[in-house]
Amino acid sequence: MTDITDIKIFDTTLRDGEQSPGVNLNKEEKLEIAKQLERLGVDVIEAGFPASSEGDFRSVKLIADTITQSTVTALARTKKHDIDRAYEALKNTPNPRIHIFLATSPIHREFKLKMDKQQVIDTSVDMVKYSKTLFKEVEWSAEDASRTELPFLKEIIEAVIEAGATIINLPDTVGYTTPKEYGDMFKYISDNVSNIDQAILSTHCHNDLGMAVANSIAGIENGATQIECSINGIGERAGNAALEEIAVALHIRGDFYPYKTSLNLQEIKRSSDIVAKLTGMPVQPNKAIIGRNAYAHEAGIHQDGMLKNAKTYEIISPALVGVSADSANTLFLGKHSGRHAFKDKVKSFKVELNDEELKEAFNSFKTLTDHKKEVTDDDIYSIIMEIKTDASNISRYVLENFEVNYEQDGQTKASILIMTPDQSQVTHEVTGSGSVEALYKAIQEVVAESTNLLDYQISSVGGGKDALAESRVQLKINNHQFSGRGTAQDVLAASANAYINAVNRYLMSEQSAKTIERAKA
Ligand code: KIV
Ligand code: ZN
Repeated sequence: MTDITDIKIFDTTLRDGEQSPGVNLNKEEKLEIAKQLERLGVDVIEAGFPASSEGDFRSVKLIADTITQSTVTALARTKKHDIDRAYEALKNTPNPRIHIFLATSPIHREFKLKMDKQQVIDTSVDMVKYSKTLFKEVEWSAEDASRTELPFLKEIIEAVIEAGATIINLPDTVGYTTPKEYGDMFKYISDNVSNIDQAILSTHCHNDLGMAVANSIAGIENGATQIECSINGIGERAGNAALEEIAVALHIRGDFYPYKTSLNLQEIKRSSDIVAKLTGMPVQPNKAIIGRNAYAHEAGIHQDGMLKNAKTYEIISPALVGVSADSANTLFLGKHSGRHAFKDKVKSFKVELNDEELKEAFNSFKTLTDHKKEVTDDDIYSIIMEIKTDASNISRYVLENFEVNYEQDGQTKASILIMTPDQSQVTHEVTGSGSVEALYKAIQEVVAESTNLLDYQISSVGGGKDALAESRVQLKINNHQFSGRGTAQDVLAASANAYINAVNRYLMSEQSAKTIERAKA
């Protein structure tokens, strides 16, 4: 019988994932994701890069102060200041780990670091030794490992293990490698590094050529026992290896792969939904495992086969990853449902709402039941997620009313009534060439911040002709990129809410930056 090897799942959604263009999560959103990752059962949560900003420091600290089951780690350059900041942020978590990195490839050494091989070794060794005075678990990453000369990689790995590193991560930083090459690198390191038994090896793959998952699996086939990955595969550029694809591939092909993870696969869909909603990065419909179409069968022959025996065309049962076949259309609560039933349903989503948030969610639900006959789980979930994002006592904009009228000359007139952060009510009217355009122009002219629409999307949540509309936007606000989302029964209301939500998210981040400044002064 083949031995089954335990593979540790290191999730970097909150660090590499948060480096995705246009994504900026506030600390409450990061904590929400971290709690879900803990429910999913990931072994390690990379919570952020504390030295990169005060905001990141606070988010990592909040996560470290809250999470008890998973190891919490934070990224640091090979600099004492970064390591000290990571220690300060992580010191209250029961299982802290530092993750330090330095590039090793010739191109990075020559052009970026301007260091020779010996300097790269000395710096890494010194900083691993320093980290070891503060942390028991020290992960060292050879940035751009897959483009590094193998003998040099062997030499530096032996040196950092000797200095105390307990995890060696070999990233394919630029997503350039192939499964065979990446696997061979791990084999070479496993076979040639004399003290490799004192550390574990880890993969970290980017998806520039669409091979991140295949490369990660090649890594574990050749000695790695930790995989770094992210929910929905989000991350720098084309992203990282997708956690859900790796987890389900190892499970479904357990006949072929002698590996197991300790993930709770039924939490995959929920994790994907939370990350997609909070980052504003929707999942493509044909995405493996969690895409909307992943379990949809269109061709007549396929449908016929499915009816006779689902295994004819379905290798993964949707229930395995928490997708219930008809969850989107399940009648959930109706007009006559009370607060108690609503609270129970919120609990079943495992998202925590305080009394104030619960009251707001219940009111939104009641308003929805006035317009929508069947309120589904997806509808309720959207309401909760929106409230979670708006949950803060910051002064913000509130769209109190709007109207859109179509004029005879083909123009559209939008009138809005907005409550501004200083609590004054402002009405404004503009014309534009379409309803969304006119509405956005009106909002843009009222808000004090300079805003510019970069991306706009509209889709439906839940099933049926009275499904909720969900809008997502990307705005450039005072030169920062912020995403926003809004849901409503009406497409225009959802669109307006999304715009306002992005501006409020910007205000929130500005206000927390000011609080930090004040605290530092
Ligand atoms: O891709 C990469 O090399 C990284 C390191 C910082 C681990 O993200
Ligand atoms: Zn990376």
